[in-house]
Amino acid sequence: MTEPVLATHGITKRFGAVTASEEVSLDLRPGEIHALIGPNGAGKSTLIKQICGNLRPDAGTVTFLSADVTAEDTVARARRGLGRTFQISALAMEDTVLQNAVLGAAGASRRAFSLWRPALTDRSLRAAAEEALERVGLSDYAATRTAELSHGQRRQLEVAVALTLKPRAFVMDEPMAGLGTEGSQTLTAFLDTLRHEAPILLVEHDMDAVFALADRISVLVYGRVIATGDREAIRTDPAVREAYLGEEA
Ligand SMILES: Nc1ncnc2c1ncn2[C@@H]1O[C@H](COP(=O)(O)OP(=O)(O)OP(=O)(O)O)[C@@H](O)[C@H]1O
Ligand SMILES: [Mg+2]
Repeated sequence: MTEPVLATHGITKRFGAVTASEEVSLDLRPGEIHALIGPNGAGKSTLIKQICGNLRPDAGTVTFLSADVTAEDTVARARRGLGRTFQISALAMEDTVLQNAVLGAAGASRRAFSLWRPALTDRSLRAAAEEALERVGLSDYAATRTAELSHGQRRQLEVAVALTLKPRAFVMDEPMAGLGTEGSQTLTAFLDTLRHEAPILLVEHDMDAVFALADRISVLVYGRVIATGDREAIRTDPAVREAYLGEEA
């Protein structure tokens, strides 16, 4: 079997009495979209934060490209090629679309933006940013203030920011959130092509997108993975139907 690009091994995280992650082991393989679904509060974002380095697990490890990265922070993991989009937008709203993309290419933290002004004139960063904007279809908006973009365009810009780092894997927390049908379909089509560049761990409530895209789906309930399998296996899994999909399935 091919080596997974990204994996968690027995990740456990508690917040007081709440076990947000309970011995979670899952992996992301080359070329695939692995969707992580589950009800609100199931622990999806908490797991993503441990994978990306915002939170340290109480137990368990995270490996990325065969390296144990459990002790590394978000910046170190991003430098290794872990690309990410957030459930809540991390864009600098007052800055232009191009500035946000250049900042992403510089690997800078949003909060330290003023320190990174010189990055805006760096030619290679600018070229990487422009290429990423072109790929998500935002070239015409390079000089637009980010706050003026539609919700869907901001989601596209977040993907562009992640793309500037030429990631070896993507981790996306609800990229379809707040998008209308058309916006979701556009992003779905784009993610479908993106998987060949780097595999995607996709947290998403939009079941149309999940069932259109996912090679494998893992279902998280109360911090535990109750099932992992292909679309058909998940659709017909009795525990999943009971715990999560309900009458929808
Ligand atoms: N920093 C924190 N401190 C205390 N409890 C937390 C913290 N972060 C998350 N939790 C709790 O951990 C559980 C999992 O939350 P998490 O945000 O990971 O769920 P989620 O699956 O991403 O939900 P949603 O679908 O609503 O985004 C919840 O019970 C939540 O209240
Ligand atoms: Mg969440």
